[in-house]
Amino acid sequence: MAGAPTRRPRVAVSRTDLPGDGVGRLAASFDITAWPHPQPPSPAELAALVGGCEGLLVLGSDWVDAALLDAAGPTLRVVALASMGYDGVDVAVAAERGVVVTHTPDVLADTTADVAIALILMARRRLPAGMDALRRGEWGAFRMDAFLGLDVHDATLGLIGYGQIAHAVARRAAGFGMRVQHHHPRRREDDELSRWVPFGELLRTSDVVSVHTPLTEETRGMIGAEQLALMKPTATLVNTGRGGVVDEEALLTALRRGDLHSAGLDVMTAEPRTDPSDPLLTEPHLVVLPHVGSATAATRATMVELAADNIEAVLQGHPAPTPLPGTMASPGLPVRLGR
Ligand code: DGY
Repeated sequence: MAGAPTRRPRVAVSRTDLPGDGVGRLAASFDITAWPHPQPPSPAELAALVGGCEGLLVLGSDWVDAALLDAAGPTLRVVALASMGYDGVDVAVAAERGVVVTHTPDVLADTTADVAIALILMARRRLPAGMDALRRGEWGAFRMDAFLGLDVHDATLGLIGYGQIAHAVARRAAGFGMRVQHHHPRRREDDELSRWVPFGELLRTSDVVSVHTPLTEETRGMIGAEQLALMKPTATLVNTGRGGVVDEEALLTALRRGDLHSAGLDVMTAEPRTDPSDPLLTEPHLVVLPHVGSATAATRATMVELAADNIEAVLQGHPAPTPLPGTMASPGLPVRLGR
């Protein structure tokens, strides 16, 4: 006699437009409920989507907190982020519930490092200002004193944080003949690309400071007025990490006063931004991009595929390939992480 049909595990996906084959591959084994609208779901809408699911695929900008985990209920075993950053996840609550949370390290470092280098060149050489003037019909004559920037080659680059993306930036900077130094609070080691320096020394001696630290309670606002005051007035600040690490009001003040030469941001405290008169978008010495660090078709597809690999592994009883650092790879007994 045939047994009762078994229900396929359900996986909720927080977007409808994800690149690559990842979601299609999941659909072969699981029932997919994808958010159907072009605008991302609100936290309440995502909570309604995930109820009763075993797996959830989300982006770094979605919130994975106690309310969402409550709404998912006890069936939920894995949340896979298609992002490397996980500042929107309440890691301790997920661990308490025995839910595996995964992210996408390894696959986006080079793509994001390319954008960090682009921002360094754009901000320091003031390239967007030249382009804007040209588009306004204001380039009437070649002048020796027009559109002047500062050299990138031979400059000293200071990396705040020294993970995969910072290493990839250091490799590129070597090709520009930059001297590279870095600060990491715990790993006080030099390597063949860069030497470790104390935080204050990095700020005082670097011509370009590039932020590559995750957003945590420790790093929130770590570049504020006091730190900007230590930097050279000829320095450039670049952030491809997370917006909250840099105090944006303090940055605008430093740029307006001429205490800092320039800055380039791929990330902002509040994202997205749609007000064209927003001071962050109009400040002439600031180059701003809409969080495009990992935005190539190939890398974004690979991120979604790695997220799908994680869901597939966990729901088929295997350890997740890329759990969040320091967390469990298989759903298990609830654990209490130190808070
Ligand atoms: C990341 O992977 O953290 C990027 O910021 C995209 O979310």
